[in-house]
Amino acid sequence: MTRYYLIFGLQSLPLHELIYMKNIWQQLKDSKTQFFVLAPMDDVTDTVFRQIVKRHSPADIMMTEFANTDGWCSAGKQAIYSRLRHIEDERPLIAQIWGANPEHYEIMSRDIVELGFDGIDINMGCPIKDVVKTGACSALIENHDLAAEIIQATKRGSGGNIPVSVKTRIGYNKIDTENWCSFLLSQGIDALTVHGRTKKDMSKVPANWDEIAKAVKLRDDISPQTVVIGNGDVLTIQQGIDRAKESGVDGVMIGRGIFQNFFVFAESQKDTDLDEMLAILKEHTSLHQQLLQGNRFEPLKKFIKMYVHGFKNAGTVRANLMDAKSHSELLDKIDKYIKSV
Ligand SMILES: Cc1cc2nc3c(=O)[nH]c(=O)nc-3n(C[C@H](O)[C@H](O)[C@H](O)COP(=O)(O)O)c2cc1C
Repeated sequence: MTRYYLIFGLQSLPLHELIYMKNIWQQLKDSKTQFFVLAPMDDVTDTVFRQIVKRHSPADIMMTEFANTDGWCSAGKQAIYSRLRHIEDERPLIAQIWGANPEHYEIMSRDIVELGFDGIDINMGCPIKDVVKTGACSALIENHDLAAEIIQATKRGSGGNIPVSVKTRIGYNKIDTENWCSFLLSQGIDALTVHGRTKKDMSKVPANWDEIAKAVKLRDDISPQTVVIGNGDVLTIQQGIDRAKESGVDGVMIGRGIFQNFFVFAESQKDTDLDEMLAILKEHTSLHQQLLQGNRFEPLKKFIKMYVHGFKNAGTVRANLMDAKSHSELLDKIDKYIKSV
């Protein structure tokens, strides 16, 4: 068989493989009964946390915190860049972006391709008041024309090099899955993450997986090639497997579940001990100190709670660690505990 090779940069692939190369979402769908995604979480899933998760509790794919397209196209670009900072080892990694100006999406998407991400995700779900009043995120659920422009602009920016996906909710003030998800699925997106709550629900009611299952059926009818990910209230892999079976989603996204069980994505679930969790907190603190110099210390404290809970005396240890005023003070305190246990 004649094989034609094209050589682009680092890759040398047969022509037919290049033409039919599957995007990361399709690869994951084809390789697993259901795949698992670490949810994008503002002020949580930065490069430091993602690196720690990848080492100890790897999800199949991760997303960045949401990064603003208007900020990217302004003098404040450097601040936005810190949200897209990553290393090769975090891949597959999706950059999540938000905003209300299609032109800025196109520009930022072009840059995201250059930065080596595996995909671009558009946030059409964030319900926070200050964000919604800019016309972005969940406000787009009520503005299909702008949502369509944004998707098309992002696709132009990505140039077909990496997939474009959307993460959204099942409605604005009321459930609107049929209308909203049908619309999104007619826009040629590569993946759709459905968080089973409306904007109005915030996080106050249980996630509605029946509506997520509805989105899967719409996908089957409207856009069979789009990969669908379900999201909301999944705390364990087993729950995720059950949810995927019941709803038909291809993948399951877990957010707050990792606060309760840091090892939620780990292959074998094990009992953790204080020593091990302190060692991971130490790793996280050192990496934060090293990589995100200039970043304030205080935001790091939320991770103390995430790593140090559920043990005998965890409350006392935590209270002591929370008293630290700097990276080095926290590292000293951790060392003292590690030596004493
Ligand atoms: C602290 C925090 C920050 C979040 N930031 C983002 C974000 O930047 N982008 C986004 O799409 N969703 C964000 N979310 C929503 C989560 O990605 C997810 O949709 C939500 O928590 C429901 O999933 P869960 O029940 O597994 O946590 C955030 C959630 C939390 C708790």
